[in-house]
Amino acid sequence: MSLLRVQGLTKSFTGLMALYQVSFEVAAGEVLAVIGPNGSGKTTLFNVITGFLRPNAGRITFGDRDITGRAPHRICRHGLARIFQLVKPFLELTVIQNVMVGRLYGRERAAGQKRARAEALDILRFVDLAELADQMAHTLTTAQRKRLELARALAAQPRLILLDELMAGLNMTETEEAMALVRRIRDRGVTVVMVEHVMRAVMAVSDRVLVLCAGEKIAEGTPAEVVRDPEVISAYLGDEGGRGDA
Ligand SMILES: Nc1ncnc2c1ncn2[C@@H]1O[C@H](COP(=O)(O)OP(=O)(O)O)[C@@H](O)[C@H]1O
Ligand SMILES: [Mg+2]
Repeated sequence: MSLLRVQGLTKSFTGLMALYQVSFEVAAGEVLAVIGPNGSGKTTLFNVITGFLRPNAGRITFGDRDITGRAPHRICRHGLARIFQLVKPFLELTVIQNVMVGRLYGRERAAGQKRARAEALDILRFVDLAELADQMAHTLTTAQRKRLELARALAAQPRLILLDELMAGLNMTETEEAMALVRRIRDRGVTVVMVEHVMRAVMAVSDRVLVLCAGEKIAEGTPAEVVRDPEVISAYLGDEGGRGDA
C-alpha cells in the first residue's frame, strides 16, 4: 500500500499554472527523487502536500487520511515533515533548543523537559551535530544548518520526510555526507521524498525518480530509466528552463 498518494494535483498562481494534474504514489520505505528544471513546480508541490498552499484541484492521501487542504501543523502531527529549500533555524536559540522546538510539532507529546532533551541529543547524534548541541544556531555553517533543519524535522518523528534541495550549496564532502544521511534516514524506516538538483545524489540514493517540467509530470521511473528518457533529456537541454546541472 502506498504511504503517500497524490491525485490530479493542480495549483495555479495568477496567470501561471504551477502544477497541472500531477499524480504519483510513494510506497513506505522508498526514496523518491523529484527533479525538473528551475520553476517546474517542485517546491510548490511540497508546499501543497504540506498544507502551506491550497490546491485548486486534486487530492492528497497520507496513509489512510485525506490531508488535502489541512493546516501544516496538523499534517506534521500526522507524521509528514519537511525541510525548506531556504533553511531557517531559530538563530537565537541553541542547536539543541531548535531540535526541541521541532519535537513540539511531533506525533506524540514529549514527556517532560529532561526526556525531551535526551531525545533531542539522540537525534543530534544521528545527524552528527551532538558536539555542537549547546552552541547558538547562528554560529553554524550552511552544511551544519541543513543538518540542524533535518534534525528538527526528524524530532517530529515523521513517517515521511520531504527534503527540498538538501544538497544545494554543499561542497563535495558535505554532499557525500548528506547522501549517507539520507540513506540512514531511510534505514531508520522513514520514507523520503527529495527535490534534488545534484544528479549524482539522485542516481545514487533514490529508488525512483519523478520528473516535472512546467508543472506537469513528464516521466517517472528508476533513475536509469529517466536519464535516458528523450522527453527528460530535451526538458533539460531545451532552450528554456534548463539549468544544466540536473
Ligand atoms: N507564491 C507564489 N506566487 C506566485 N507564483 C509562484 C509562487 N510560488 C511559486 N510560484 C511560481 O510557480 C512556478 C514554480 O515555482 P517552484 O515550485 O518554486 O519551482 P521549483 O521549485 O521547481 O524551482 C514558478 O514559475 C514560480 O515563479
Ligand atoms: Mg524549488
